[in-house]
Amino acid sequence: MKNEIIKIKNEILEALNGIKDEQVLAGIEKKYLGRKGSLTKILRQVADLSGDNRKIIGKFANDTKREIGEKLNELKKALDNSQASDSFIDVTLPGKKIETGRLNPVSIVQNELEDLFKSMGFIILDGPELESDYYNFEALNIPATHPARDMQDTFYVDIKNKKGEYDTVMRTHTSPVQVRAMQKYGAPLRCVVPGRVFRSEAIDACHEHTFDQMEGLMIDENISIANLIAVMKELLKGIFGQEVETRVRPGYFPFVEPGIELDIKCTICGGKGCPACKHSGWLELLPAGMVHPSVLKFGGIDSKIYTGFAFGLGLTRLAMMKYGIDDIRLFNSGDLRFLEQF
Ligand code: PHE
Repeated sequence: MKNEIIKIKNEILEALNGIKDEQVLAGIEKKYLGRKGSLTKILRQVADLSGDNRKIIGKFANDTKREIGEKLNELKKALDNSQASDSFIDVTLPGKKIETGRLNPVSIVQNELEDLFKSMGFIILDGPELESDYYNFEALNIPATHPARDMQDTFYVDIKNKKGEYDTVMRTHTSPVQVRAMQKYGAPLRCVVPGRVFRSEAIDACHEHTFDQMEGLMIDENISIANLIAVMKELLKGIFGQEVETRVRPGYFPFVEPGIELDIKCTICGGKGCPACKHSGWLELLPAGMVHPSVLKFGGIDSKIYTGFAFGLGLTRLAMMKYGIDDIRLFNSGDLRFLEQF
């Protein structure tokens, strides 16, 4: 038996010679010293021996086991150390840059405007992008037969609204939220509604099928066009950080009376004329007006007591003016070379 032990010991020592891999080492340990390992088996047989034989062989076997155990531990430590030095970290190397996302320029101006309007006591609302014909047109004083429907090239959708009463459209403006807000909150009311709108446009540098607007609505007793102009001026100052040159023209929208168009001098060409302003030097930025009494009625508000103003700010256009972006198609292009500049 002693010979057998010596044979196994030599076998182990040979296997351990020049070992470099922790897993191989663990394999050897299991093969010889594991529960079913060959050295373990022999050690068990020592118990069956008798008398002096048992003492002598027993001691020899235990010494061998200890010796091999020590050798294994030594090797484990050596391997551990060499691995630690392999994974040495050079703390002086420059780090890997973590890419961060950015806000689309439209979101930037939207956030700024939300802060500005919140400071003037307005609440921020949103509404559905797939809107019923009723809120998008009818409740805004644009019945089915009204020629004003043609003012906005509409994506009609082949689905009825929830009650099955109205056709649905991709909302052509944020104005449908006017009546929704009146019905929900009543008067007095101050709200802005940022959001995406959709039109079946022929696309060019200043027209997109999907763009952003921000609707504004203020209803109270004694609201006049003077309040409207004051809020608009405040808004433009907040966005551009300075007074910009504006002009006010009459404008027609069936849901306001009177209606106005506030234009700003094109900040891209300084008024000389460029593709972004259709070579006119001016940009329509803020259509607005006093809320039409029948729209108040649709919203359940008594027009004898309350008046209000509404405006529909072109958020996308505003971002173009603010940052001097000369092509509206860039916003939804997903082009990182564009987006990374903000
Ligand atoms: N909803 C109109 C549009 O998109 C703009 C508008 C809003 C005009 C509010 C007047 C009042 O063309």
